[in-house]
Amino acid sequence: MNEPEGTSPAAAGSPADGSPALPTPAPETEGAKLKTVLGGGGSAARKYFEVTYGPMPRWKAILMEILQLLLCNVPGALGLFLRSKLYRPFFGACGRKVAIGRGVTLRHPSKIFLGEGVILDDRSTLDAKGSSNRGITLGDGVFVGRNTTIYCKNGDISLAANASLSANVIVFSSNDLAIGEGTMVGSFSYLLSGGEYDTASPVPFCRQSGMETKGPLRVGANCWLGAHVTVLDAASSIGDGAVVGAGAVVVSPIPPRSLALGVPAKVRKAL
Ligand SMILES: CC(C)(COP(=O)(O)OP(=O)(O)OC[C@H]1O[C@@H](n2cnc3c(N)ncnc32)[C@H](O)[C@@H]1OP(=O)(O)O)[C@@H](O)C(=O)NCCC(=O)NCCS
Repeated sequence: MNEPEGTSPAAAGSPADGSPALPTPAPETEGAKLKTVLGGGGSAARKYFEVTYGPMPRWKAILMEILQLLLCNVPGALGLFLRSKLYRPFFGACGRKVAIGRGVTLRHPSKIFLGEGVILDDRSTLDAKGSSNRGITLGDGVFVGRNTTIYCKNGDISLAANASLSANVIVFSSNDLAIGEGTMVGSFSYLLSGGEYDTASPVPFCRQSGMETKGPLRVGANCWLGAHVTVLDAASSIGDGAVVGAGAVVVSPIPPRSLALGVPAKVRKAL
């Protein structure tokens, strides 16, 4: 997994072999970067628990580790039943009738808040990683499709009631990303609040944090984003009832009740 780290040009040093120096990473400030955590001091077990369970007490994390080992891939109705009952105490909140599919990955579960009737389909990932974030909040009836990933690097993500992410969607935040009630997102779409690199910086991209952001992203209620839509945080908002056609790249705000198409996405008509 490629999770780049924070950098500081001022911290650059010269390698002994005389090759060009790459600026070295700045001290960790976000507590959210997997490579930094794994590369730091301490035992492998400490690093693992820090990355996977965050602030959860160690005894509880070990208990969840055992439960996941036993239940993560149990098929059929029995697996759904057992996971929905036995994973519940490990979340920040968990409503009734939550369905958790096979092979679901959960990181920092104490910062994951699930409403009633949330569905996490097979192999989806909820990663609320970060040291000072609230994490991931999914309202009642939210659907997270197969292989879909919702992940934070010290950012926050919320999906209001009945929002739906199809299969293979990625939603990322190092800032704040909110999706409104009943909004549908098509397969292979990518929504970002943060995750940018500084193109003007002398620091190589591989040494940057990848957490540059132009601000929060708000997708309104009752929107429809087709398949393969990319929404950058520069978009800042997609208004209620807007439709974004398949394959569009949204880089500027889309007004409510409008149809936007293309790369970059342009408003084609009012709806
Ligand atoms: C955006 C969309 C809803 C428009 O449907 P529509 O109103 O029936 O539009 P039309 O098919 O009549 O096309 C109207 C114009 O937009 C163009 N167009 C349609 N979809 C487009 C797209 N995704 N990107 C760019 N142009 C598109 C058409 O070529 C046509 O152009 P023209 O007027 O120059 O001839 C539809 O094309 C779309 O992208 N749907 C998403 C489907 C999807 O991804 N589903 C996944 C499950 S959620």
